[in-house]
Amino acid sequence: MNIFQDWPEPIVRVQSLSESNLQAIPNRYVKPLSQRPNLPSHNHHNPHNTTIPIIDLGLLHTDDITLQAKTLDEISKACRERGFFQVVNHGMCPLLMDRAKETWREFFHLPLELKNMHANSPKTYEGYGSRLGVEKGAILDWSDYYYLHYHPSSLKDYTKWPPLPLHCREILEDYCKEMVKLCENLMKILSRNLGLQEDILQNAFGGKEEAGGCLRVNYYPKCPQPELTLGLSPHSDPGGLTILLPYEQVAGLQVRGSDDAWITVEPAPYALIVNIGDQIQMLSNSIYRSVEHRVIVSPANERLSLAFFYNPKGNVPIEPLKELVTVDSPALYSSTTYDMFRQFIRTQGPRSKSHIEELKSPR
Ligand code: OGA
Ligand code: NI
Repeated sequence: MNIFQDWPEPIVRVQSLSESNLQAIPNRYVKPLSQRPNLPSHNHHNPHNTTIPIIDLGLLHTDDITLQAKTLDEISKACRERGFFQVVNHGMCPLLMDRAKETWREFFHLPLELKNMHANSPKTYEGYGSRLGVEKGAILDWSDYYYLHYHPSSLKDYTKWPPLPLHCREILEDYCKEMVKLCENLMKILSRNLGLQEDILQNAFGGKEEAGGCLRVNYYPKCPQPELTLGLSPHSDPGGLTILLPYEQVAGLQVRGSDDAWITVEPAPYALIVNIGDQIQMLSNSIYRSVEHRVIVSPANERLSLAFFYNPKGNVPIEPLKELVTVDSPALYSSTTYDMFRQFIRTQGPRSKSHIEELKSPR
């Protein structure tokens, strides 16, 4: 479907720029003044930093129905207001989380020639990449990444996964399997919290067998001038639901707060960060919010994150659920498909929330 077969200009690995000890970053990575980050100071604790709720999913399995209801409520509020929350006791084994991070850290430290054997193209984006979008001359982000498909099984192709480090593919298989389980559970909770049957969102995604699951591993090398650039430009996630495994040691993710300020997320130990994507914002007719976020980089530390995206099947129509559309709350979005929607970010790169705004129904 993508008419672009290759990148518009030669690919430069940000990691090789970082490792060449430049004093100044190339102009291609320098953001216009209005987009540059205000780096959080190390001396002052930012009062905004505590505002991503931490939700204990373990409480959903206690016998205490009051606690269960309270937890469901917290999730509901987070989806409607912040669009982002952290979960603990999520069922994912801490050891597996550590192994997944470690194997990807090792991957990015393999020699460039090995990584380049899996260099990606804009046709599918699968593999080792260094840019999003195919516009010639675009200002780029300070990051490399690896992108792969896990679900549905028809799209899973082990030959596109890294053969090294040893055990990387097995760890990935285990990790992604757990991620799908967690996403399926969250989909039920989100459906119930809309007052609807628990399988309604899953069905709207085309069913369990057909829903998409893919992993984007982000690598943010050290940057000599972090005040001039971003690791990832402001965007909302185009898919359904995102589950992020962050590096706890190095902050980087910032989320747009209600007053438009950027909130720096401080991950709790072994927490996963959940956020609503554009497809669920559309299906829920804007009851749930897909919130803009970005990544800042550090002069002293590299950072790594594993973003698992759970998405609708590519060709099912996505439009506000009819159960949520009434005379008083008419459908806010015209119908699209995820395949079509994804083309925006794949060609233009991250552009705040402009992609979903374009689908607002004329009033
Ligand atoms: C993403 C993303 C945030 C991070 O991959 O879409 O927003 O902290 N990542 O790397
Ligand atoms: Ni994102």
